[in-house]
Amino acid sequence: MLVSLAPAQTSPPLPDRRDPDARRTESAIDSILAGLTPDEKIGQLIQYSGDWTTGPQGRALSTSQQDIVRAGMAGSLLNVFGSRATRELQRLAVEESRARIPLIFGLDVIHGFRTIFPIPLGEAASWDPGAVEKSARIAATEAASAGIGWTFGPMVDIARDPRWGRIAEGSGEDPYLGSAMAAARVRGFQGSSLSDHTSIVACAKHFAAYGGAEGGRDYNTVDISERTLRDVYLPPFKSAVEAGALTLMASFNEIGGVPSSANRQLLTGILRGEWGFDGFVVSDWGSIGELRAHGVASTSAEAARIALDAGLDMDMMSGCYRDNIASLLRDGRLRSSVLDEAVRRILRVKFRLGLFADPYRGVNPEREKTVLLSSHHLAAAREVARKSIVLLKNERNLLPLRKDLRSIAVIGPLADDREDPLGPWAGDGKPKDVVTLLEGIKRALPATTRVIYAPGCMLAGTDTAGIAEAVAAARQAETVLLAVGESASMSGEAASRSELDLPGRQKELVRAVQATGTPVVLILMNGRPLTICWEAENVRAILETWFLGVQTGNAIADVVFGDYNPSGRLPVTFPRSVGQIPYYYNHKNTGRPPVDSVKYTSHYLDLPSSPLYPFGYGLSYTTFSYEGITLARPVLGTGDTLSAAISVSNRGTRGGEETVQLYIRDESGGGGVTRPVKELKAFRKVRLEPGETVTVGFSLPVSALAFSGLDMRPTVEPGTFRLFIGPNSAEGLESGFRVKEKTAR
Ligand code: GLC
Repeated sequence: MLVSLAPAQTSPPLPDRRDPDARRTESAIDSILAGLTPDEKIGQLIQYSGDWTTGPQGRALSTSQQDIVRAGMAGSLLNVFGSRATRELQRLAVEESRARIPLIFGLDVIHGFRTIFPIPLGEAASWDPGAVEKSARIAATEAASAGIGWTFGPMVDIARDPRWGRIAEGSGEDPYLGSAMAAARVRGFQGSSLSDHTSIVACAKHFAAYGGAEGGRDYNTVDISERTLRDVYLPPFKSAVEAGALTLMASFNEIGGVPSSANRQLLTGILRGEWGFDGFVVSDWGSIGELRAHGVASTSAEAARIALDAGLDMDMMSGCYRDNIASLLRDGRLRSSVLDEAVRRILRVKFRLGLFADPYRGVNPEREKTVLLSSHHLAAAREVARKSIVLLKNERNLLPLRKDLRSIAVIGPLADDREDPLGPWAGDGKPKDVVTLLEGIKRALPATTRVIYAPGCMLAGTDTAGIAEAVAAARQAETVLLAVGESASMSGEAASRSELDLPGRQKELVRAVQATGTPVVLILMNGRPLTICWEAENVRAILETWFLGVQTGNAIADVVFGDYNPSGRLPVTFPRSVGQIPYYYNHKNTGRPPVDSVKYTSHYLDLPSSPLYPFGYGLSYTTFSYEGITLARPVLGTGDTLSAAISVSNRGTRGGEETVQLYIRDESGGGGVTRPVKELKAFRKVRLEPGETVTVGFSLPVSALAFSGLDMRPTVEPGTFRLFIGPNSAEGLESGFRVKEKTAR
């Protein structure tokens, strides 16, 4: 018998009218709406992009931007920042337009504004929501000082296909880890109070299931079941909404035939109806206009109508709302109440951001100057970058290196690169702010150590002329740090790759340097899992460093020389081959689970079924052991809490941090619904000194085991469960418990 938990809410909880602030806000909005012309209402739904020249460069505002704002025909601008430019445009809006409604300035502040932190996939590898929140808090503080009130972040798309370049912008393949990171970033961006001048409005994107693109090809079709949508792709969005995110961005893709920008079930049924969201939804760049290419709208007027009716409130740069809403209203093809509701949501967010109280939010050039790249921010960027690094291999403990080396070779196209470590979506980050790997290594070593640098080859292309110089450098050194990977432009939007090997001639460079016999530390700088089987087999040590941002060189040096013991764990599976994709740890069992030695099971003839590195994997300079998994009660009711504990010891000679991970498996089969072989349900990062043992406890409400049942409602199905606690998704100690039938009252 299935137990359905709280039924999905059917009507959105209106803003709590008992809350005096909410009540005042809503009545203020009532009076504003009553005074707006139809064109001024439409203006609030329109977002224009600056041409990037009106930023800190301080170049004159374009006349068209000024005229649009003066006419009240823009509710928001994106890609305009800098205290001077934003103050001037805001002045036009609140002093020269008739309606005097403040603008909200948006920008992609994804992993930093000027102090650039690791890409979000790298930050997720820290498994440290506190660190991630701190990163977002600093990003918000810097962006707000430059006049930004709204970031198009966090990107919370679950990604199971590393061919998709935007895997770099999210938190990987797991809904639980992704939900924890989504909430942390929303808290960081929005702060403890949105009226605080360091807070900016968060925007969970891309709603929804953008990462499910077939073939990992950006913008491509997503065709998944409602159950996969609800149980895999939606949880991080729900987590962001529950953390208070005031906006979401609709995604470019369709889901099962319905484009997100016209998906009423998604934008209204689920987001408002089930989750009670009362902020607003912005389209992704031009996505309303793209409803014609999708084939669900024949004209831009039809696109505007179905998008606004679906619950998409603000139009980013398609022009469909600007060009058609007035006539749709006149022709009776759009109800004025739909327009008013969209305007109300946008004004509600502007009120909550305090824009009506103080449109300028204390923005001034002096504050901007003192805030950006402050020493505190740089120190935090170094700390988060160190935590993001994952030690994938360390044969015979090559790492950490001693600092009294006579010589070291720093080789590779990324060894002294200051552009690519910023990664994609690097806000106002500047290459000159980056500490390169070479610089970081030199700073960490005494002047007596000879540091030899050779780029070896480019990140792309076929030129191998530089490999000889790299080989010569390796031969002269005691150890090689070999920095290879991807360019920032091979990652992020519109950057899908059909192969995941090291691009260009980097594989040849690695083989040639490895052949010298000098010990090699491979340092990966990349925005996605790479298929590095040969490298994993042959080089002695491998560090996955992602794109670490402005503190790249210092953070990697801290790990290489042991000033920080690496604690990162993979937020995404590393497949052995592109041929294995999609490959994710929380897969279903199938009727013929893979056994490589048994023919008639689900496996490949030419590849092991295991991944190169599993989800949650990462090594340390010390060793941790797990003993004695215990459960407080082996039989639980649906309203109970599971209490489990395990003993973790540091068996090595260095202090270090271990991320203890708790997975469950619902063995009962979900009452007709198949369930994953494992699901992450909790994790704890603990620091242990050499010889120290701690008991790590977990409390998990049984309701956390819910999934979408046959009726698509949250369901906990009585029966037997397996419990795994360990260092990653492939290892650990196992136990079991049972959820009993709900006793009839
Ligand atoms: C882009 C991206 C989106 C971004 C927006 C504004 O196309 O898809 O993530 O926020 O445009 O730059």
